[in-house]
Order: sequence, then C-alpha cells, then structure tokens
Amino acid sequence: MPIPKINPTHTQAWKDLQLHFNEVKALQMVNLFEEDANRAEKLTINWEDFYLDYSKNRVTDKTLELLQNLAQEVHLKEAIEAQFKGEVINETEGREVLHTALRAPKKAQVIVNGEDVIPEIYEVKSKIEEFTNAVVSGEQKGYTNKAFTDVVNIGIGGSDLGPAMVVESLQYYKNHLNTHFVSNVDGDHVNEVIKQLNPETTLFVIVSKTFTTQETLSNANTIRTWFLEHASQEDVAKHFVAVSTNIEKVQEFGIDANNIFPMWNWVGGRFSLWSAVGLTISLAVGYKNFDSLLNGAHKMDTHFRTANFKENIPVTLALLSIWYNNFFGAESEAVIAYSQYLNQFATYLQQGIMESNGKSIDRNGNRVNYQTGTLIWGEPGTNSQHAFFQLIHQGTKLIPADFIGFAESLHGNQDHQDKLMSNYIAQTEALYKGKTEEEVLAEFKANQTSAETTAQLTPFKVFEGNKPTNSIFINKLTPESLGKLIAMYEHKIYVQGVIWNIFSYDQFGVELGKQLANTILKDFDAQDLNHHDQSTQNLIKHFKQFRS
Ligand code: F6P
Repeated sequence: MPIPKINPTHTQAWKDLQLHFNEVKALQMVNLFEEDANRAEKLTINWEDFYLDYSKNRVTDKTLELLQNLAQEVHLKEAIEAQFKGEVINETEGREVLHTALRAPKKAQVIVNGEDVIPEIYEVKSKIEEFTNAVVSGEQKGYTNKAFTDVVNIGIGGSDLGPAMVVESLQYYKNHLNTHFVSNVDGDHVNEVIKQLNPETTLFVIVSKTFTTQETLSNANTIRTWFLEHASQEDVAKHFVAVSTNIEKVQEFGIDANNIFPMWNWVGGRFSLWSAVGLTISLAVGYKNFDSLLNGAHKMDTHFRTANFKENIPVTLALLSIWYNNFFGAESEAVIAYSQYLNQFATYLQQGIMESNGKSIDRNGNRVNYQTGTLIWGEPGTNSQHAFFQLIHQGTKLIPADFIGFAESLHGNQDHQDKLMSNYIAQTEALYKGKTEEEVLAEFKANQTSAETTAQLTPFKVFEGNKPTNSIFINKLTPESLGKLIAMYEHKIYVQGVIWNIFSYDQFGVELGKQLANTILKDFDAQDLNHHDQSTQNLIKHFKQFRS
C-alpha cells in the first residue's frame, strides 16, 4: 500500500497550527517555564541511554497536541509501518526502502517480492565478518605476503560520508589499520592519499552502489594504475575489493568475484552504511563493533516503530523542526555535537537530510506551496562557539539547534569533560535565557562603568534569548549509542518527508549537473560550443587556455 498523499496544509491540524502560531509566536520561553513548574520534566524523553530535553522550545502543550494531530492526520503510523514492512514507498524509483532490515535480528522476517531478505543480509554480514577477521588478524596478506596496514575506501556521497563519519566517530575503538577515504574527483585528493601508501600493504575498498559514478571510477582507475606500477595484474585480486549492486560492472573493472560484497537496490546510498558499504567501518573497528553499531540502530528502529508519538524521540524532533520550518519560517537548523569525534557528523547529515528532503514536488506530482527540507549545518562544540555562535545568539535569523553531548568521556580526564559539558549546557541556557537590558545595566554598574560607556554599549550587550534548542544527552559514545543516534536522524528525515508529502528516498536533483558535466567534459575538445549559453561558452574557452 503506498503511503497516503495528503497535502499537509489541507489538514485540520495545519489550519489549527496556523491560528495557534499567530497566538503564540511572541511567547517567551522564560514565561512558559515560570507558568509550569513541571515543564522541563514533562518535555523530556528518557529512553535507554538517551535523554532528550526539548523543553527549551517555543511550544506550549497545545502546540505539541496540534503537532501530534498533524502526525495522525497524515497517517504517520501507517507510513512508518509501510517502510518497515518493505512496501514500495520509494515510488518514483519503484523501490522498497529497507535500511532498517539491514540491522534487524536474524529471526526477523522482511519480505521483498515474496522472499525473505534477512537470510541474504546475514550471508553478507558473515562475509564481512570473515573478511574483517582475516584482514585485521593479518591472516589475509598482500602480494608480497605482508599483512595489511592501510585500508582505502574509494567512494563518494553515501558510499563515503557514512563510513568516513563513523570511522572518525569511533576512532577510540579503532584497531591498528590506518584508514583513508578518497572521494573527490579533484586529483589532489587521491594523490595526497597515495603519497601515504605502500602498495604491498594497502587494501582498496571500492564502494559504489551503481558502479557508474564518475568520481569513484576515476579514483579507482588512478589507484589501480599506480598499484600496477608496483605489482602485477594478478595481484589486483589480493588488494581490491568492491561493494556494489552492479556485479557485472565490478567484474568488468577486473575485480575477482570472491571480492565482491553485494548490496541491494532497496538500500538508498545515504542510508547504506549498515550494509557492506560499511565494510571499511568493520575493518577499522572490528566486526564486533560494527555489529554493535547495527544493534544500536535496531534498538532505535524498535523505539521509533513502537513508542507512542509523545514518547517517540525521532517523531518529536521531526515535529518540532516542522513547527519552526513551516510556521516560524526558520530556514536552517544547526547540529552541534560536543564531541570532537563527531567532527564529520553534520557533514554526514547534510547528505541524509538535504538529499532526502530537498524536494519541491509533492507525492501527487504537484509543486508544493509550503516549505520543505531545512538547511543543515554545524561543527563540534566548543570550536563552533568561537566561530559562528555569534550569529545564533545575536543575529537576525532564527536557528533551532540540536545539542548533542556524551555524559561520560572516553578519555577519562574529568577536568576536560567538565569544561566541555559546562559549555554545552551553558550555551543552551544562554540561547534560551538571553540577557536583558536590566542585567546588562546591573553588570555595568557593578563594574563601575561610566554613564557614557553604559549608554553607548548597552544595546550591543543585550541578548534577546528565546532561541530554541534540543538537548540530546547520551551516556557515552559507543558503537551502539552512535548507531542509535544515526538511526534517530534517519527516522526524523522520514517523518518530515511523510508530513511534507514528498518522496524522501529519490534524488533526481543531483542528475542534471552530472549530465551537463559529461557534455562539458567532451566539449573541452570540441570547436562548436553554441549549444551552451554565452557565460558557459566563455567559461569553457577560458579553461581551455590552461589545459595541458
Ligand atoms: O550524489 C548522488 C548519489 O547518487 C548519492 O545518492 C550516492 O550516495 C552517491 O551519488 C554515490 O553513488 P554510488 O554509490 O552509486 O557511487
């Protein structure tokens, strides 16, 4: 059964939310806390090792009730079930969307085209486990009989960002293998990585769902050419493995059939780190940790599928985001992780969120008359405090922010951890509370500042406050908790897509640029450029002067 195609703005809940917004848009959160002594407790979800405090949002009980009504009216529950059950919810590509099946337990059953896909998934997982153990233990060797020391992941987009982010996030759990990621078609990327490699001890993992992606094939070819300067054609089988759905193309590239880790069309690129696309993760942190990551995601899946919407973390985050995006007109959201390990988390989310929900055509094929996908950005705290926080605190834009923090550190230095977490908590307090003119004046007075300076500087020192944040507190950064966190955002994406009545799992918007780049690549050697506009013709001509 397809997911319902309801224009959200035609629902009763949306109309009610619009009226309600006009009543509450100027409300100050400080007053909401004053009116309700239980607000913080009420607007907190405690689930396993997750603690979500969403009380610092510009919402009342009524707002939350109306947002829940919206979820009901668009049949969110049914849409969630449709996804988990393997219905063809990616209608424009005619596919099921089953990243959740990749982390389901062995006893689960998920039927696609009349067949249970779980046994296949576990077969590939066993292959990943075996291969990982052989490489990590040193049993699997390179062409000069030396154990591997380095692994290079060659892929882009979903075939790069997920594995790269997880490997960095789980650096603490890493084994002796050095991992590298080559994604950009800019030759500098691959060249800089090659400089660090010894062909005798390097394993290359080519990851491409389609095995047609220009960047990945170019990088793989360059690396193979470099490898063959040192080794023979038959040594390729010992050093190159591939992850793909396109077995034929992988074999054409020259990869041994045994070295292919299959994936399936029902896994979207940006949701694929749970499949063999995560091979580099498994190699970097060991299969057991990779499996814990998957188990964590599965726990979040169960929470998402079974918890009622009021207690449901991904649903709550999605609804709050819709409130700001569609009623307050907020254009972007920040994700600030107070963990240096999560340095690439926002970059990873950018693909997940913006490639999924950056759509303007609804599920009926009509242009939407409301806002959809949010811009997403962020950097770890505390670094980001010294970079762009000024704008969040005192700029003119409303930027709701997710703060992610881990209560217990991995390094064990409590002094650092106390300082880090005091900043995390302080920023959410500052954004919420702001600083009034009275407080600024009192501070000047206490410092015996002159009347002239006080009058001159007071307006600049006032913080409006009332800036919304979600505080996501997790006990500790582990493979399992990271799995939960990633899955939490995946589900938030889907909930928003369902409500916005868009298809979250296709990405036609990336195609046009790719097509034109192929044409322009040929046109670098062509005389007739008349099929391009004037500006494009000039850019091509300008570039051609520098070609060697
Ligand atoms: O950028 C578009 C895209 O299709 C992504 O969705 C995908 O993750 C990426 O390219 C890489 O694709 P592939 O894994 O097929 O090489």
